[in-house]
Amino acid sequence: MQDKIQLLRQQVEQLNAQSAEELEALRVKYLSKKGEVSRLFDEFKLFPKEEKAVWGAPLNALKQRFEARMNELREALQSKVNAGAGANSADLTRTPDPIALGARHPLSLVREQIIDIFSHIGFTVADGPEVEDDKHVFAMLNFAPEHPARDMQDTFFVEKEEGVQRPTDVLLRTHTSSVQTRVMADFAKQLQDGSATSLRILCPGRVYRNEAISARAHCFFHQVEGLYVDKNVSFADLRQALLYFAKEMFGEDTRIRLRPSYFPFTEPSAEMDISCNICGGKGCAFCKGTGWVEILGCGMVDPNVLEACGIDSKVYSGYAFGMGVERIANLKYRVKDLRLFSENDVRFLSQFESC
Ligand code: PHE
Repeated sequence: MQDKIQLLRQQVEQLNAQSAEELEALRVKYLSKKGEVSRLFDEFKLFPKEEKAVWGAPLNALKQRFEARMNELREALQSKVNAGAGANSADLTRTPDPIALGARHPLSLVREQIIDIFSHIGFTVADGPEVEDDKHVFAMLNFAPEHPARDMQDTFFVEKEEGVQRPTDVLLRTHTSSVQTRVMADFAKQLQDGSATSLRILCPGRVYRNEAISARAHCFFHQVEGLYVDKNVSFADLRQALLYFAKEMFGEDTRIRLRPSYFPFTEPSAEMDISCNICGGKGCAFCKGTGWVEILGCGMVDPNVLEACGIDSKVYSGYAFGMGVERIANLKYRVKDLRLFSENDVRFLSQFESC
């Protein structure tokens, strides 16, 4: 028994298998019922008690060593197969796993669409600061110093700080008309040196108003305002441009109506409604049964504004309009709560992926 165990102990360390078949052959040779290890156990069963006490432990150890060796060989084979799979079976022509592309913010989508529509009739984008001064947000736009119209837009003023030198009346712009005053002042100079004859700009951007945050109001929102200054600009031009915009944005069947309104910087002023794009003008809960929904303010640039910017109001006239991007996005996507636009909840935002 001693010799047989000794021999098998040597053999087990030499075992090797290049394939699953070879491995199986080894298992049969040593561990199957008629295998060499099992045969030792058959002999062992016939031993007298004292002999059993001697050989039981070494025999069990031998069997365990064989089993362990078989497992080692099986794992070695398996990892060889896996490595082979990596090298040989990768399909390089396969379409890669889809990459999550993210989504564009609905307000960006709508802003881009507004810009795109007006760009087809010659408008280009102008930019300006969000932290502004009274002059550009109010004074040059015909708001008299104590004019109550300033209260129409609840302004955030930047507080004065001890020892910090900055111009008086620093505030967060309440509308992007402030960009228009800056661009018109530049345009006045260009008119003088002959480098421009007309002005057609869009002013997209964030604006701030001191309002309690709710589903229908926020302390900041986004606007796109437009301005056209040239010789002989008429209200009919304004109406035509806005009708074109409404049809492009909300569909060919859209109708518009202009209601008289008031803004310090335009005269005459109007608010524009479109036929409700939800019920098609028949009247529904969204348009409160009227068939119309308001989407923007507009008017002919007040001569005082042109003059304040250095443009001769006897020669030049212009129209302006301004709309809230959230308002347009609400109409397009029927978002009921304004706060969703700024809460950054991906469950909301990812819905706009395919737009
Ligand atoms: N600036 C106005 C607002 O913020 C909108 C507007 C722009 C109205 C141009 C008329 C003309 O409410």
